[in-house]
Amino acid sequence: ANAYDFIVVANRLPVDRKIGADGEPVWQRSPGGLVTALAPVMENNDGAWVGWHGAPDETVEPFDQGNMHLVPVPLSAEDVEMYYEGFSNATLWPLYHDVIVPPEYHRTWWDRYERVNRRFAEAVSEIAAPNAVVWVQDYQLQLVPAMLRSARPDVKIGFFNHIPFPPYEIFAQLPWRARILDGLLGADLVGFQRQSDANNFLRSIRRLRGHIVRGSAVHVHDDAGTPTHISRAEAHPISIDTQRIIDLAKSPEVQERAKQIRSELGNPDTVLLGVDRLDYTKGIAHRIKAFGELLDDGRLSVGQACLVQVASPSRERVGSYLNLREEVEGLVGRINGEHDTLSHTAIRYLHHSYPVEEMVAMYMVADVILVTALRDGMNLVAKEYVASQDDQVGVLVLSEFTGAADQLRHAIQVNPHDIDGLKDAIVQAVEMPEAEAKRRMRIMRRHILSQDVTRWSETFLRSLSNEEIEVGAEK
Ligand code: G6P
Repeated sequence: ANAYDFIVVANRLPVDRKIGADGEPVWQRSPGGLVTALAPVMENNDGAWVGWHGAPDETVEPFDQGNMHLVPVPLSAEDVEMYYEGFSNATLWPLYHDVIVPPEYHRTWWDRYERVNRRFAEAVSEIAAPNAVVWVQDYQLQLVPAMLRSARPDVKIGFFNHIPFPPYEIFAQLPWRARILDGLLGADLVGFQRQSDANNFLRSIRRLRGHIVRGSAVHVHDDAGTPTHISRAEAHPISIDTQRIIDLAKSPEVQERAKQIRSELGNPDTVLLGVDRLDYTKGIAHRIKAFGELLDDGRLSVGQACLVQVASPSRERVGSYLNLREEVEGLVGRINGEHDTLSHTAIRYLHHSYPVEEMVAMYMVADVILVTALRDGMNLVAKEYVASQDDQVGVLVLSEFTGAADQLRHAIQVNPHDIDGLKDAIVQAVEMPEAEAKRRMRIMRRHILSQDVTRWSETFLRSLSNEEIEVGAEK
């Protein structure tokens, strides 16, 4: 087998299977920022990406995509149901997002999570070169660091949690809480989006594991009390491929498309935009409710203002996602039924996902973007919107419960649970004088320009390899 010096392991491979022009299936690199940041590191270091290819009950041989080596991990239909839809997305996801919906605890799901995590750890351990660097991504794979450390004590292990890490009082519900902490502590460096996430993690370690914690360092010992290693917990806020968004915003095609969209919308004075996976953490119903009430109150009117809500399909077989879809679509139907005219629609609701070019065109059209998540690890839509405002002076309304709120302090920050406050924030955004919008946007753009996703991965990997790192300008 090949041996790689740098390995990324994530639940998903960074590719999607599409049907090519000749009717044959082809793999296409997926658009996410994570791939953009990691592809160059992989190309320079003989790297590989280990992950699921997205098709249940199918085995796919390792293959190359551009200069990346991809190593598929197979999942059976039952694995998908219990490890992915079950433990990852109906237990951990709601638990880590402030129990917005009740997490479900099933021992069979936990068993399957452990088994699938072991499969990922084994796949990595078979292909890692001596002293390789392995970077494990996200909540689906929290047991992999410790499994890998015991199989391959020579490799350096990083872990990054893309979602929030909950406060002890919530985390403590999890029947397998100690096992999860032990899994993560297998990493030399555990990265979080916000310092508060790292603090929550360290507090749970103190309460549940009894290791000595000094600053960000956990002095891990085994059951007999013998020290084994040090694991550090740090904040490394992720970002976007800023330059790619800026380039798209400058491209004549995207600019042309933006004009076209505005006219397709009937040239309203104000376009408000929401862009999310259709997920109950995003506060989609809260923002739609606030917009609907502003129409009821006559503070906004149809024709003058229009809300475009892109809700991309996500985890559609999980119950709470089905319920959310019903709720959101019912709400949109009611508000539109009440306020639409034959020529104008209050809310354009789009249950689709779009290529990045189309998204940037929409960002350019949007006078106001509403990011009203009830809880979000980071929220990259907020950052992409800021990056796309090259000539435009749009206004960002941003929930204080997102990681991005730590950095984008010049957004209009809101508590999305407070519908009256949210309504006032929307009106403030719609009416904001251009000079103030410009000033706020300029400051936020400066941040996004200096802190892109490449900077994120470099900073994390440098800290993992223990080099001196310059502490970033933020916070
Ligand atoms: C979030 C998670 C990712 C996940 C993505 C899409 O951003 O942090 O780990 O890949 O959502 O969700 P999905 O379940 O489709 O992979």
